Amino acid sequence: MQLLRVVLGLTIALIAVHFRHQEIFTNLAAGSYTIVAKDVNGCTGSAIFTLTAPNPCAGIIINVTATTVNPTSAAATNGSISASAAGSTGFTFNINGGAFQATGNFNNLGQGTFTIVAKDLNGCTGSALFTLTAPNPCAGITITVSSVVINNTPCQTANGSITATGGGGTGPYTYSMNGGAFQPSNIFNSLPAANYTITAKDANGCTGSATITVSDLPAGPLFLAVQNVLQANCISCHNGTTSEGGMNWTVDCNIVNFKDRIRERAVNGNPSVMPPTGSLPASEKLKITNWINAGGRFTD
Ligand code: HEC
Repeated sequence: MQLLRVVLGLTIALIAVHFRHQEIFTNLAAGSYTIVAKDVNGCTGSAIFTLTAPNPCAGIIINVTATTVNPTSAAATNGSISASAAGSTGFTFNINGGAFQATGNFNNLGQGTFTIVAKDLNGCTGSALFTLTAPNPCAGITITVSSVVINNTPCQTANGSITATGGGGTGPYTYSMNGGAFQPSNIFNSLPAANYTITAKDANGCTGSATITVSDLPAGPLFLAVQNVLQANCISCHNGTTSEGGMNWTVDCNIVNFKDRIRERAVNGNPSVMPPTGSLPASEKLKITNWINAGGRFTD
């Protein structure tokens, strides 16, 4: 019985060898291999086999930590990152995709966000982001704006002005009006009466604003005297409803703008006297002449 089993077993093995042939290829790297088998008659069959190397980084978690030193200002490049890594051995480090180096110390950095990668001997990597921030140069700084105003003279090209002076920060200052471009000059000219927002900006970009009012100067006494003459003698024919010859003396600036015509008609009677009903008394004509000789402005 024992003998029969052995004979039978050998027979089955021989039959198997007859139909199956085994070949062993060794020392293969990871990759895909096509194996072709050919029989004595040259008939072939083939198959593709893929050998995969074990991932050396499987289960490896590399942690990157660092102590950081911020740059001392927005423009400074004296910040640094000193990175170290844990979770494996033989680390090299790079910053923002640069070349790997033996230490995790990176100096001469400005403000910004930096990616540090740590790589171990097997090429396994870990990374972390570090942000360096410059201190805010305006913290605790209040920029003041003081001003000297010259008010506007009405009834002529606007001539108000603001001379602003920034304080509280680090000079030199630049100045902007009503959100416009900053300029080195602190003087704003040719201003009509209005409220203006003046902003001063110091050398560090810190700003402060003030609302500054340019007013219209009041009417002068010589002008007011002429206005009285016209109200008493002229506005019956020269008002908003009846404005003979196109003239309305109820509007102050019309008196200023047409003063030469007033003098011609009411003082010189050229080409005919105004009012047409009879010449003004000399004392009233003198008020007109005195005002015009003084400059004929709203403020005279
Ligand atoms: C009773 C009505 C009346 C009164 C009052 C009167 N005017 Fe006239 N004014 C006229 C009429 C009409 C005209 C247009 C005809 C002309 O130019 O003569 C005129 C025209 C004018 C003109 C425009 C023509 C120009 O020469 O430039 C001026 C200036 C003028 N008047 C000034 C005066 C002054 C100043 C007074 C007061 C001191 C005055 N008038 C009072 C009726 C009047």
